[in-house]
Amino acid sequence: MTVSDPVVEEVIATISRSATEIRQGLIGRRGTVDEENPSGETQVEADIWADELLGDRLATIDGVGQYASEERAEVVDCGGDPDAEADAYAVAVDPLDGSSNLKSNNSMGTIFGIYDDAVPARGESIVAAGYILYGPITTMVLATEETVSEYELTGGERTIVERNVTLPDEPVVYGFGGRIPDWPDAFQAYAREIEQELKLRYGGAMIGDVNQVLTYGGIFGYPGLESRPEGKLRLQFEGNPIGYIIERAGGRSSNGRQSLLSVEPDDIHERTPVHVGNADLIDRLEDRLE
Ligand code: F6P
Repeated sequence: MTVSDPVVEEVIATISRSATEIRQGLIGRRGTVDEENPSGETQVEADIWADELLGDRLATIDGVGQYASEERAEVVDCGGDPDAEADAYAVAVDPLDGSSNLKSNNSMGTIFGIYDDAVPARGESIVAAGYILYGPITTMVLATEETVSEYELTGGERTIVERNVTLPDEPVVYGFGGRIPDWPDAFQAYAREIEQELKLRYGGAMIGDVNQVLTYGGIFGYPGLESRPEGKLRLQFEGNPIGYIIERAGGRSSNGRQSLLSVEPDDIHERTPVHVGNADLIDRLEDRLE
C-alpha cells in the first residue's frame, strides 16, 4: 500500500526498515539501567538504544517537525513547526512497548503515531499510525486514512500479508490490565460479564494483546485503577496510535467515556485509561462506567 504524502511514507519506511535491526539489537540489551523513563518506569538498555536509533533517523527527515518519545522527557524540535507548516509532522514513538517482557522473552512492540499537529495533540490529528510486533515473526500493522494493512518485516523489507484488515464481527478474546482488587467496582462488574463470554488472553505487552484483539476480535483494556485513576498507559504514545488503528479497522477506542482520539491532552506524558476493541463491547463498557 502506498501513502500519498512522501514525508509520511518516509517516516513509515524508516521505522519499518529499522525494525529488524531493533529486533536483532535486543540481544545483549535485556538488562535494566539505573534510570527511569519520564513516566517513572524502569528502563532496560534496549529502551534507550531503540529510542536513540529511531530518534536519530526520524529527526533528520525533512518535514518532521518534532520527535517525541516515551523515553524522553522533552519533545525534540527538529526544525519545522507542525502547527505552522502544511508539510511538517510530529512523530510520537514508544520505541519498545512492553520492554519488561524482554526479561521473560515474551513478545513486545514498537508503536508510532504521525500527528499533523504539534504534540501533545488530539488523536484526531493523526494521519497514520502503526505498530511493530516482535513475535515469532516481526510484523507491522499500519493504519492510514484509507485502510489498515499487515506486513511481515525481514531484512529491512516489508511484505504485505493482508490489506483492509478489519476486526472480526464475533469477538473471542479479552485482556485487562491492573490488579483485580484495584479495579473500580463498575469495571469489575463489566469484567465479570466479559469473562463469561470471551477467552482470556493477557501477555503484559499492549502490542501483543492488541494484536490478538485485531486478529480474533474482542477487547483490550487497561482501566483507571482505584490507586491510579488515570491508568497506566500514555495517551500520546500508546492510547492515540492504538485507538486510531482500531477505529480504522472498524472498532472503537475509549477512555471509559469518549473516543481516545477526541481527548484534549495537557501533557506529552499524560496517562489515560485505554480500552479498544469491537464497537459493541466498548459501548457496553461506557454504559457500565457511566
Ligand atoms: O506501557 C507499558 C506496558 O508494558 C504495556 O505494554 C502493557 O499493556 C502494560 O504496561 C502491562 O502492565 P502490567 O504489567 O501492569 O500488566
